Amino acid sequence: MPVVPISQILDPAFAERYGVAAINIVDDLSLDAVLSAATEFESPLIVQTSLKTVKSIGARPLYSMWRARADEVPVPVSLHLDHCPDREWITTCLRAGWNSVLFDGSALDVAENTRQTVEVVAEAERYGAQVEGEIETVLGVEDDVGSDEAGAVHPVEVSARFIEETGVYSFAPAIGTAHGLYKHAPELKPNRVTELVELHPIPMVLHGGTGLKEEEFLDLISRGCAKVNISTALKIAFVDAHREYLDANPGKHDPPSLLSHVRAAVKTMAEYHIGIFGSAGRARTFSATAG
Ligand code: 13P
Repeated sequence: MPVVPISQILDPAFAERYGVAAINIVDDLSLDAVLSAATEFESPLIVQTSLKTVKSIGARPLYSMWRARADEVPVPVSLHLDHCPDREWITTCLRAGWNSVLFDGSALDVAENTRQTVEVVAEAERYGAQVEGEIETVLGVEDDVGSDEAGAVHPVEVSARFIEETGVYSFAPAIGTAHGLYKHAPELKPNRVTELVELHPIPMVLHGGTGLKEEEFLDLISRGCAKVNISTALKIAFVDAHREYLDANPGKHDPPSLLSHVRAAVKTMAEYHIGIFGSAGRARTFSATAG
């Protein structure tokens, strides 16, 4: 039960109100580490790639690397392209085989964003893929995409109309979260998730997961945030583990030991989040219903 459409992972999560971690990987080692965490926890998992990572590795080599690993795991997994404002890259990734894409038209006005998202949804359908929509910029720059300036937040009715008119599968609402590390405790707006889900019951996406408290995750998940994005925590685990190992072993030039130290740190980070979100053990139910 390896690679599945993202709806097969998120439909049950949304219906039963648990969260599925959507973790931005940066290379084969981090991919392997998060897949291994999901396998150990018998949890479904969404693997995400930023546009920067796609550009740095190349869409086809990255997709081959993904399939080589993902086809081996016994839990349902799906590949998602995170914030992508560039239509050509959306097409490249859909063609290569990504299961889901976030067309980030948040820099456009809502009418133009709606118009283009309709096209992306139609294009994705041809590949059996799904689209996440967004009309408000998530605060904080993530891999060169986004802004450190707070953007406009629209009334939920505007988001509901966007969802209705575009037919996006999932939606990323502005709820007070931000990419990167929180400098101050965020002022979350959980009611916006509840209101939107009442208007349009589709999976909501929690951006800016790194640094939220366990009770904040659980509250937002219980309201309908079925996809929970984690990126900064992986970068911190990945980079700090390199530093830690090199500082502790100044004269050593032993890449396999360095890499196994880094892999363990990334895996622990993934396990921490999967453990909170309530998806552990859900792969078992999945195989029972899918099988
Ligand atoms: P963090 O970098 O804060 O974990 O947010 C991840 C995210 O929302 C990716 O889109």
